[in-house]
Amino acid sequence: RKRIRTVTLQQLKERGERFSMLTSYDMYTAEIFDEAGIETLLVGDSAGNNVLGYDTTLPVTLDELIPLVRAVSGAAQHALVVADLPFGSYQESPQQAFASAARLMKEGRAHAVKLEGGAHMAPTVEHLVRGGIPVIAHIGFTPQSEHTLGGYRVQGRGDDAERMVAEARALQDAGAFCVLMEMVPAPVAQQVTDALRVPTIGIGAGAGCDGQVLVWTDFAGLRDGRYPRFAKKFADVRSVLLDAARTYREDVASGTFPAPEHSFES
Ligand code: KIV
Ligand code: NA
Repeated sequence: RKRIRTVTLQQLKERGERFSMLTSYDMYTAEIFDEAGIETLLVGDSAGNNVLGYDTTLPVTLDELIPLVRAVSGAAQHALVVADLPFGSYQESPQQAFASAARLMKEGRAHAVKLEGGAHMAPTVEHLVRGGIPVIAHIGFTPQSEHTLGGYRVQGRGDDAERMVAEARALQDAGAFCVLMEMVPAPVAQQVTDALRVPTIGIGAGAGCDGQVLVWTDFAGLRDGRYPRFAKKFADVRSVLLDAARTYREDVASGTFPAPEHSFES
């Protein structure tokens, strides 16, 4: 298998083939998802609430994300590795965005970056792409703006549908190689996908997108508590680890671990 590139995703769209993205924040998940043929890995700022112990993605910094990007890009042999630009690292100016994205590529060895925002981010996308940095534009529900959006809610309903198509088109025209839609009504995401030349990736955006993305801790059932409607659990890794940890503790307490085969002779 060859390395997946941005043009590979474009070719998949043109052939009507769908592709997958999973988040990854460390070398083993990157290795496993890569071996499974997952086309793209996202080192998302969802690391904030999945690795770093924050409530949201807002506190995540470039300095925190870069080592994770480095771990994933070092382990993935085929997948296209995309890194999120953290909140506050790109909104000020195209120049600020370039400096931040360049760090994700130079220090993190990312192959592309993702940023949140609609048509107002078009000049930034254009500046990055001109400088040689492939960009995914993330629209719909954009978690970094949860405080201006009024919480976690579906975007693009009613009159907002037409605007969603226009924003996606503006980002494509600015040079984004892909548009990612989060929590957008399925018919609207379908409309955007049909309107664009470049591929779309959806999360909570229905089956009409060219690709799908899930946060790996949701997809693998690692996390405790409530899951969003769109997060299908493909495994129950949490219960596997819980059982293993309990068994280990019991075996230590009872003296059955370590057994002779785990011990050294003198
Ligand atoms: O950070 C992340 O995991 C994301 C996905 C939800 C698309 O941005
Ligand atoms: Na993100």
